[in-house]
Amino acid sequence: MADNIGNKAAKQFSENTEFANNGSFHVKGAVHYDWGMKDRLSRIFNPASGNTVMLAFDHGYFMGPVSGLERLDLLIPKLANHADCLMGTRGAIRSCVPPTFNKSIALRASSGSSVLQDDLSHESMVVDIEDAIKMNASAIAIQTFIGADGQKETIEELNRAVNLGSKFSIPVMGVVAVGKEMERTTQFFLLATRMLAEFGVQMVKTYYCDDFGKVAAACPVPLVVAGGKKISEKDALSLAYHSIQGGAAGVDMGRNIFQSEDPEAMIQAVAKVVHEGYSDQEAYEFFLQLTKDNTQ
Ligand code: 5RP
Repeated sequence: MADNIGNKAAKQFSENTEFANNGSFHVKGAVHYDWGMKDRLSRIFNPASGNTVMLAFDHGYFMGPVSGLERLDLLIPKLANHADCLMGTRGAIRSCVPPTFNKSIALRASSGSSVLQDDLSHESMVVDIEDAIKMNASAIAIQTFIGADGQKETIEELNRAVNLGSKFSIPVMGVVAVGKEMERTTQFFLLATRMLAEFGVQMVKTYYCDDFGKVAAACPVPLVVAGGKKISEKDALSLAYHSIQGGAAGVDMGRNIFQSEDPEAMIQAVAKVVHEGYSDQEAYEFFLQLTKDNTQ
């Protein structure tokens, strides 16, 4: 019990000053969430810019050790400091990411297929919510295959995740899957992103497309844009730039960072676009300069 003898009397009530915490919240669609959900979202989406640089390195969960991710223990410590959020599996994070990094985690929580199969569209939630809580995950990520063979089961699994997430205030990131046979049209992304938001996810990971601004406008929660297959650094920075300009709240980029000729320079250049309003050209020049400095 606190000592109550000789305490200073309270007198700074500032009666004429409005309550300072009535403001809005920096994450789209999240103003009515509870404190725990908002705290986790604020670890992912930087309160100053409203955006996030999410580093995706979960590819191994169905592809094995892809190029650039052979040694997560060596790679992630070089990049983590420049990311707002790390997206990986519990196995990769527990074994290769020191908890002292104290980074927000988007925990890949669905799986069920591998590259050895033709049809990758059957996934379920495989991580218990208790384990996500134990890992202090700031979000769980569940893949959903709209329009594919596994549509019904992945929608059910996503909704199960949202039910569990709501119970424990863990945000769910709905991941829009694109498969070999699946469309990548504006119409498809309008449908898929909106469906996931209506199921109750707190954020949607999707792909950039024509008329992306319409997709972002029609989705009442933040969109984070995946990088996709490796393209040139210049093009990847343009992708990030156009995504942000179109209304995305960040990127969830993997191969275009860790397969870059200079991953550390690339993630910093991406962060300039996402958080500091750099144009794609400015960010590319910044990338070239950092690369030059790193080789000297
Ligand atoms: C794998 C994923 C990846 O995290 C996602 O594709 C982002 O990585 P990349 O930028 O390499 O596409 O969800 O299923």
